[in-house]
Amino acid sequence: MSERSGFATRVGVILATAGSAVGLGNVWRFPYVAGQNGGAAFIIIYIGCLLVLGIPGMLSEFIIGRRGQSNAARAYHNFSGSRIWRMVGHLGILTSTIILGFYAVVAGWCLQYLFASTVGTLSGDAQYVANYFSTFASNPWKPCFWGVAFILMTHFVIVRGVQKGIERASKILMPILFILLVVIVIAACSLPGAWQGVTFLIKPNFSQLDHHVMLDALGQAFFSLSLGTACLCTYASYFSRETHLPRAAAQIAFIDLGIAILSGLMIFPAVFAVGVEPSQGPSLIFVTLPNVFQQAFTAMPLLGRVIAILFYALLVFAALTSTISMHEIGTAFFTEELHLPRKRSAWILTTVCSVLAVLCSLSVGAVEGISVLGQSLLDFCDNLTAKFMLPLGGLLTSIFIGWFANQRDVRDELTNHGTVAQRLFPIYQLTVRFIVPVLILLVFLHQFELL
Ligand code: PHE
Repeated sequence: MSERSGFATRVGVILATAGSAVGLGNVWRFPYVAGQNGGAAFIIIYIGCLLVLGIPGMLSEFIIGRRGQSNAARAYHNFSGSRIWRMVGHLGILTSTIILGFYAVVAGWCLQYLFASTVGTLSGDAQYVANYFSTFASNPWKPCFWGVAFILMTHFVIVRGVQKGIERASKILMPILFILLVVIVIAACSLPGAWQGVTFLIKPNFSQLDHHVMLDALGQAFFSLSLGTACLCTYASYFSRETHLPRAAAQIAFIDLGIAILSGLMIFPAVFAVGVEPSQGPSLIFVTLPNVFQQAFTAMPLLGRVIAILFYALLVFAALTSTISMHEIGTAFFTEELHLPRKRSAWILTTVCSVLAVLCSLSVGAVEGISVLGQSLLDFCDNLTAKFMLPLGGLLTSIFIGWFANQRDVRDELTNHGTVAQRLFPIYQLTVRFIVPVLILLVFLHQFELL
């Protein structure tokens, strides 16, 4: 059998995995969820979730993936010696395929906005800009075109392989993403009235805190770290034997949090500067923000346009590093399990996801009636994965590693055969056995309104 490829460098490991984690979840979802839940107080709870649930959850997937040296399904099988646990891998592969289907639609909207702000068709009077989104979304062709284009962009990175495709793309895209973010943060924070937005993010107001905030923070941590999709497990199979897993998990969680907070510092100062409510919800970046950029920089319209272009480019890059990871999970699976060439496996996944993306896109625009349980297909896929499949994947992984896996193997893998981080093992074991499952069960009960 040919040698399995992997990431070539340590930086590659961190940037590719952080690339999976950093996505629309940070730049789009985090600011609006934080905005709805009281800003700084939410961030404090969120950091707690990253520490007790996020980092141990990442470690569990890393341990299974690196030990398994294969696609997610076989990795669970190899670790346990039992075929039954393959199902957790299958669940992860299915989840990430569904996520790719609807995520590509939103990523495609970002492509359209990038295009429109570049050619200038996104500017006009306030009403025109506010209506731009609904006009665009109800067009039968355009949103489908951009969604499929996004999947094809992902496809062409994937077919180049792990090192030349995923690792190289992450090494280019992640630094650019960071620079764009810092430039926009500086521009947003220098607007008159921006300070109010900054205080909103750094001064905690605990009066709004209730269990909803806690559970929203938990759900956000899951989605943002790509937990429960077997994505981290697949990437960990490309890590080297020397990778220090706890350190890598901490670094990735830190980068993910840093980008989320910077995204808040980019959006809220601008939003406050023009006096818009911070708790707008999901439509914030497509309906409200284009106007915010226009109004905030009325004195310098060209700068406003440049900032809008940079902002949508940033979203596209963030989304792309995440869609690459979603695509890789299924591609690795088909390549290794069906013994297909990588290119052909990638085409299978691209075709399935493109069909799903077109249906999701039409379901929120041109064609009424593509719905499941009274929701548009896009909302249904979003809710099904975020509220049900991701936590289920995380719960099963934690139970597997805490209660069913051979603990000596777990310790060996976590500590690189007893050479690093030995004292962390008992803490990790306690967390995955008790704390993680209980917390995820709480999320479940909350999602189904049983709490
Ligand atoms: N973590 C990504 C984000 O924040 C989303 C994602 C979910 C990526 C699941 C891969 C797998 O946008």
